[in-house]
Amino acid sequence: MSHRLSILGPGGRSISIVAAGSGPPLMLLHGFPLDHRLWKEQLDHLADRYHVIAPEFRGFGDSTLGEQSYSMSDLAQDVELIRRHLAADQPIFLCGLSMGGYVALEYWAHYPQHLRGLCLTNTKPDSDNAGGKQARMEMARQAQTEGTKAAVGTMLDKLLSSHSRMDRALRDTVEAMMFSIPPASIQAAQQAMAARRDFTTQLKAIQVPTLVLTGSEDSIASVQHSQAWAAEIPHSTFREIPHAGHLCPLENHQAFNLELSRFLQDINHNSE
Ligand code: MLT
Repeated sequence: MSHRLSILGPGGRSISIVAAGSGPPLMLLHGFPLDHRLWKEQLDHLADRYHVIAPEFRGFGDSTLGEQSYSMSDLAQDVELIRRHLAADQPIFLCGLSMGGYVALEYWAHYPQHLRGLCLTNTKPDSDNAGGKQARMEMARQAQTEGTKAAVGTMLDKLLSSHSRMDRALRDTVEAMMFSIPPASIQAAQQAMAARRDFTTQLKAIQVPTLVLTGSEDSIASVQHSQAWAAEIPHSTFREIPHAGHLCPLENHQAFNLELSRFLQDINHNSE
């Protein structure tokens, strides 16, 4: 059974977290434009072995936005604040999807000593090219002038596999997350992602065991690209999740949970 809690961030910001279970801490970082509901199946099915902690980024879910602008590094500082509050100062397993993966890489850059394992799912280490940055500024503008639905509504089909697109309940779940995000939060997240740094040349320096996952039909973080950059990380494993697009933890949670559980168990086993 999961429960919601909130902790106070700098400047009186409220950081909302949904957590379940007990055991080694496993923190799950959602993508854009989503919230903790991305991790429903992990909160339900991994909580018998792990303390599953699913925070919501600034301006998403029940977390307040605070000052309008922040960076990926600021979000990594929030992750550290949560670790200190909820993980009794233990090292954590950290799993980030897409935007959550950008934050997980920033967390690794700042706090590698606090990581037991890293899972980077449906994400990439590259920063944006000029066209990508421009598209983000356009989405930020559209959110402010025409509202959330107009800005992110067309993303839905891009996020899902051909199979998931026909699943009405899944579409409703994803739309509920997307459409609950205030325009100011879309703008702040797009600006932060546009300014994120490039990790491609640092992958070789990641010493923590790393699992890289992506969906067989992910058009944002393709199998080919994910497999290539995963190979740069010394202690990495790459797995393709079948019948899934950009939202593996929801679209094929059985396969996703199996891969993540195996990875975590191996680390637990090797450190016994
Ligand atoms: C996400 O799912 O978090 C987004 O695709 C990230 C991005 O816009 O780069």
